[in-house]
Amino acid sequence: MPDAPVLLKPVLGIETSCDETAAAVLDGAGHVLAEAVFTQAEEHARFGGVVPEIAARAHLQRLPALVARVLDEAGLGLGELGGVAATAGPGLIGGLIVGASLAKGLALGAGLPFLAVNHLEAHALTARLPGLFPAPPPFPYLLLLLSGGHCQCVAVEGLGRYRRLGTTLDDAVGEAFDKAAKLMGLPWPGGPHLERLAAGGDARAVALPRPLLGRPGCDFSFSGLKTAVAQAVAKGLPHADIAAAFQASVAAVLADRARHAHALLPEATALVVAGGVAANRALRAALAEATPLPLLAPPQRLCTDNAVMVAFAGLLRLAAGERHGMEVAPRPRWPLEELAPPG
Ligand code: KG4
Ligand code: ZN
Repeated sequence: MPDAPVLLKPVLGIETSCDETAAAVLDGAGHVLAEAVFTQAEEHARFGGVVPEIAARAHLQRLPALVARVLDEAGLGLGELGGVAATAGPGLIGGLIVGASLAKGLALGAGLPFLAVNHLEAHALTARLPGLFPAPPPFPYLLLLLSGGHCQCVAVEGLGRYRRLGTTLDDAVGEAFDKAAKLMGLPWPGGPHLERLAAGGDARAVALPRPLLGRPGCDFSFSGLKTAVAQAVAKGLPHADIAAAFQASVAAVLADRARHAHALLPEATALVVAGGVAANRALRAALAEATPLPLLAPPQRLCTDNAVMVAFAGLLRLAAGERHGMEVAPRPRWPLEELAPPG
């Protein structure tokens, strides 16, 4: 695969798989012309988690205006695009239907190619966005996808060539942060609140387990850690200390898993992190030291769900000649291993 994609025209990308409504336009070389994200967090906060029905309705309400806005900011009409790409899975089915249907409608109406993007592939390829790093990491590289819904370690070997090296046996790491935070009375989503609380605590004051540490492979498990947090809270231990111990435990586990991943893919050129949890500075520091590989962390707005990554994955496949029919349906489950290179 060439370093830069070679589509001549810009691509519109749409993301609606969870609780971020997002649209972006990239030029044919992958440079961002316009991007917009509407985060629904406030709408879900009082329920303590993402409510699929509310998410789908919010996408429906916001998406058309968001698409109009990015096209306007890019100074482009639909007819000037080379294609429309939308996340078609994995994710919450209501939101996926909203995004994919709008993308298909726009593509059909303007006579443009449509591309159904795998959300995980979009996260996996973000590190190769032109201009993001001094040079895009050459294949193969390791990806740690750390979000509220996903927790996987993936060998990224090329466009459409992914090997999952490990995944969580129970909760995703962001889910563990959110549950631990909730046990300490912090608002949802709890990750950033827990990180702030941990800054004032002493991790050594509370003994928490480090699940799967030292075990072969790079699977993850966080439910036991969550139970241990619940017990520490019940004992009345200081929340700041519990938060610090929890974060230290997750950091140690992630570093250990990253080392194992590197052993499984010694030819890896970099360790890339993505997902909302990648914003955590203690975790980043632990991962930076875990292996001799350069740690590549895209900026926060490209780590969390966004449409730039969707447009980019779409662009790479469109540039390789791939197109999808209107019959391609959104899929709540769509593992990375089911993907293949374009064509
Ligand atoms: O990628 P993301 O925005 O959405 C999906 O889950 O798809 O990730 C959100 C998750 C939440 O669980 C949130 O608590 C967590 O990322 N998160 C953090 C931090 N910032 C966000 N976890 C730990 N430390 C943070 N600073
Ligand atoms: Zn995501």
